[in-house]
Amino acid sequence: MIKISPSILSCDFSKLGSDVEKAEKGGAEYLHIDVMDGLFVPNISLGSGIQKSIRNQSKMVFDTHLMIVDPIRYIDDFYNAGSDIITIHYESCENVEETLEKIHSLGIKAGLSIKPKTPISEIKHLEGKFDMLLIMSVEPGFGGQSFIPESLDKIKEARALFPTLDIEVDGGINESNINSVVKAGANILVAGSAVFGKEDVSLAIETLRKNAEA
Ligand code: DX5
Ligand code: ZN
Repeated sequence: MIKISPSILSCDFSKLGSDVEKAEKGGAEYLHIDVMDGLFVPNISLGSGIQKSIRNQSKMVFDTHLMIVDPIRYIDDFYNAGSDIITIHYESCENVEETLEKIHSLGIKAGLSIKPKTPISEIKHLEGKFDMLLIMSVEPGFGGQSFIPESLDKIKEARALFPTLDIEVDGGINESNINSVVKAGANILVAGSAVFGKEDVSLAIETLRKNAEA
């Protein structure tokens, strides 16, 4: 089963509530919340207060992607703001295992993300310690970038290594390339500009899903 996770980074923040509602009505199962600190990545996005403000209006799975230095400092905050999954970056933690354990101690799912230049082999030893692998298919920091084609081989490698794991892919996914991303082995697809950059959010989600499952 494919799941679509629209990224609110591409929302019009003056209409965040109604954009989130449109995504849910359009059938999105997950909502991807990109948190950036201006240190781990060059951009600053939003904090747990914004996430909390939309929590009560939605039943979607809140899929929080922390692109911040030393994320263990903010796990409680995002848990309290309603995250169902918290994903941290392998490259940003002082102690990755401790950070994953901290997320699990709150009773929610832990995701582990790797940047385009980090090989799958580096996280192999952590098998069983996370519930979802998030493969970045652009350099994290900004929405609207082009999908890095080499990501497809990386997704295939990950799928071969972890046959039953949730594999999420994030960055540059659109209606033209989503099918190849799914064929390579991904089952959770993040899309920012391909959802909120479109006039008709429901149609955008429907088209992504149709092409993903084609
Ligand atoms: C990039 C973020 C992505 C981004 C995706 O650092 O992690 O989630 O918002 O946006 P698109 O789909 O436009 O590449
Ligand atoms: Zn993201």
